[in-house]
Amino acid sequence: PFPHYERMRAAAPVFHDEQSGSWHVFRYDDVQRVLSEHATFSSRMGGDAPSGSGQLFASSLITADPPRHRQLRSLVTQAFTPKAVDALAPRISALANELVDGMVARGGSADLIQDLAYPLPVIVISELMGIPAQDRERFKHWSDTIVSQTRTGPGSGSQDTTTSEMVEYFLALIDQRRSRPGEDLISSLLSAEIEGQKLSVPELLGFCALLLVAGNETTTNLIGNAVLCLSESPGTLDRLLKEPALLPQTLEEVLRFRSPVQSMYRVSVAETEVGGERIPAGAPIVAWIGSANRDERQFERAAEFDVDRSPNRHVAFGHGIHFCLGAPLARLEARIALEALLARLPGLSVASGAHLERMESTIVYGLKAVPITWQA
Ligand code: HEM
Repeated sequence: PFPHYERMRAAAPVFHDEQSGSWHVFRYDDVQRVLSEHATFSSRMGGDAPSGSGQLFASSLITADPPRHRQLRSLVTQAFTPKAVDALAPRISALANELVDGMVARGGSADLIQDLAYPLPVIVISELMGIPAQDRERFKHWSDTIVSQTRTGPGSGSQDTTTSEMVEYFLALIDQRRSRPGEDLISSLLSAEIEGQKLSVPELLGFCALLLVAGNETTTNLIGNAVLCLSESPGTLDRLLKEPALLPQTLEEVLRFRSPVQSMYRVSVAETEVGGERIPAGAPIVAWIGSANRDERQFERAAEFDVDRSPNRHVAFGHGIHFCLGAPLARLEARIALEALLARLPGLSVASGAHLERMESTIVYGLKAVPITWQA
């Protein structure tokens, strides 16, 4: 998508797609503004919320505006502060190493996605939410179907089936926790109150869907995209082996250079102007995060992968009140996964000649599989 973004930033930085009626925003400053000016650009999905998975997210944090947004977010911030998340590091490390053990046991090649990048975030969030281990495989299928939404169009048959399966599963889970509360997030959401009111069932479902699906696929792709960036930049890989402390800034550059989330939606609340274009009220707007992060107006040599980039004010986790709740967790999981890979798989690289197939989505950016090899 990157050459396309570059052309759009130059020729049509705020583009009106007459066919769909939506507006597309490509430059860094404009993207940042659309993401953060919530009084003008609403996150609500309007009355015509897509069927399929859209329904599930319709009452969630990510589609709420203030004041409801602030109230909902306050219920989960504690669980995701850097401090709370850091306490999970030993467990995440143990899991990452177990998964790498599995790869090592099978010899000198593996699929990074299937064997590490996918299961790690799913297991971590499942444990936080008190989900039984045997149920995890279902999330893979569910999140794949949701991600494919942009390919098949909203409300396609398989989407609707997936949504009803998810709703059914989450309702059963919520019931179970209601009768036997535990130390998990769902139990704490069940007892939470906002101005004396419990969360509604659609709001509870929204939290489950958001946490269990939205955060997983993105973290999977951050790990996959990181290994891809490193295999294209052997110099960086060598430096990291000698100096693992470079890993956090390397991951920030991966987030900028191959952003796991490429685009986010808003709806204009009132008539407004972006980049000199007049946008009417009620217009769907797509903020192209992946383009903002490559904008040469913001980043010198924007098309180069440079782990020494400083400052690196990418918007891969969004900007403003909806800034990704899971950012500290995603950063920690990715760092631990990469540490385990670098420490335990000498000569790690993407298998030569591997055909790398991207996921078919305009929202999520990642590879379906990343075959890797190392010296066993
Ligand atoms: C919001 C990206 C991982 C939970 C967001 C937003 C972005 C994003 C761009 C802003 C949405 C908007 O402005 O409309 C990412 C990326 C991730 C990641 C790139 C991984 C590399 C996670 C994880 C979790 C999570 C691991 C949870 C465990 C959320 C939630 C929101 C959110 C709940 C909504 C926050 C709000 O509306 O206040 N994420 N995310 N994310 N993310 Fe993430």
